[in-house]
Amino acid sequence: ETKIPGYSTGDPTSFAYPTARQRWPVILTQIIDDAYRSVSHCDDAEKSAEGKRIVEELAKLKYEVQHDRALAPIRDDGNEDVAIYNNQLEQLGNPTWLNVPWLYSECYMFRRVNTSFSLSTHWKNYDVFARQKIKTFRSSRPAVLELAARYKDLVGQLRASKDKKLDEEAEKILFMEMCEICLWGNATDLSLLTNLTYEDIQKLQGSEARKTAEKNILVNDLAAAYDLLLAAKKDGPKKERRVDIVLDNAGFELYVDLILAGYLLSAGLATTVVLHPKSIPWFVSDVVPADFGALLSAIAGPRHFYETPSEEDLLQDKTPEPLTDAEADELSFLFQEWSGFHGQGQLVLRPNRVWTYPGSYWRLPHEAPDLVEDLKESELVIFKGDLNYRKLVGDASWDPTTAFTEAIGPLGPGSGLNILALRTCKGDVVVGLKPGEDEKLRQTEGGGGDSGARKWAWNGKWAVVSFSKGS
Ligand code: F6P
Ligand code: MG
Repeated sequence: ETKIPGYSTGDPTSFAYPTARQRWPVILTQIIDDAYRSVSHCDDAEKSAEGKRIVEELAKLKYEVQHDRALAPIRDDGNEDVAIYNNQLEQLGNPTWLNVPWLYSECYMFRRVNTSFSLSTHWKNYDVFARQKIKTFRSSRPAVLELAARYKDLVGQLRASKDKKLDEEAEKILFMEMCEICLWGNATDLSLLTNLTYEDIQKLQGSEARKTAEKNILVNDLAAAYDLLLAAKKDGPKKERRVDIVLDNAGFELYVDLILAGYLLSAGLATTVVLHPKSIPWFVSDVVPADFGALLSAIAGPRHFYETPSEEDLLQDKTPEPLTDAEADELSFLFQEWSGFHGQGQLVLRPNRVWTYPGSYWRLPHEAPDLVEDLKESELVIFKGDLNYRKLVGDASWDPTTAFTEAIGPLGPGSGLNILALRTCKGDVVVGLKPGEDEKLRQTEGGGGDSGARKWAWNGKWAVVSFSKGS
């Protein structure tokens, strides 16, 4: 555990404060609405009755959050993490919702929601966010199609130039661009959707947007990560070289993660990519294994996916624009590439309950030694997104000029783990900045000024890409 105090929902200058008071009630309302909708479409009497009890439980949870009640122990649903959650809760001295460490309480909230389903008979594996996740993916169609075209073209070029010596500088630029696509895919998670419109999201996703956003990457260690992968390739071109991606959100972000994974395999920068999804529905949009299947089946039948009118389309009497033959073809190409890699065991999905524990990753060496051992086998472990970053640095109020390698504590140098964090900033904590940079950003419009709040870091507009070498 870090010695530095963490952010709390009781601190008016922290993003935790409006998160607990405004964003969580919205998220819980969406959860209740979705569950209610499924219950009302259900014709099995027993299942429907149980569903109604679940909806009541969730409404009670929302009431407790809004009325600052104490966090109750997680009920035992037979999973290994119950004790971890409840021990930590006890150590925190049985806090209430509006004055509790942010990282713990937000994880706890999603775990609590999960118990309502996991303890049921008919709704055990129900994903209360599935509808939302696939719907948002569908609405990111322009960026999905743009990237599919670019990807097909690129893989074609890589294949044509095989055996020829590629210009290393060009390769490096390509690697950086792929990673940047993958980075900005994180700017649009659904938990922030409570303040963004779909139009905003589309603006964030196109390639023009990416170019202008490059100056918003405050720390960019991509070159170091590339050098490492290139050195490994030269060292043992025939040896197994693994890259891991600790996933964040489903939909568009998972799509760009797969673009990066496919690129790494096609370019020979890795021979295997291991993807780490969550085991339970998490932070609204995080990937669970079923989302991977849903994404693949969407692009396997792209016409069916994009051309079947959605409920909204029907309500507004709209017919979706048909795909052009080229577009359908480019998506099919992606599907063949990815399912090919998957079938060959080069693209592997490896869920682990550890990713939905409540604590920071400072605890991994003693809470999950096997996982840490496994990750040491990897050339590079890429952590996607805001929550993973908060967990890496313990969600502590570090001085923003602290080195990333220091802020990740036991996972830093000497750990044997090569870590790359790709994070758009949606919270308070940030490290690795140049002296004076935070102060300057606070003086920008909406940056927080002299309020004591680091508001510039709340909305996904700025990003940090930080690397730590394990040896
Ligand atoms: O405010 C931070 C937040 O919205 C939290 O809900 C969570 O830490 C995170 O951002 C979700 O973002 P990501 O999907 O990038 O982890
Ligand atoms: Mg997420």
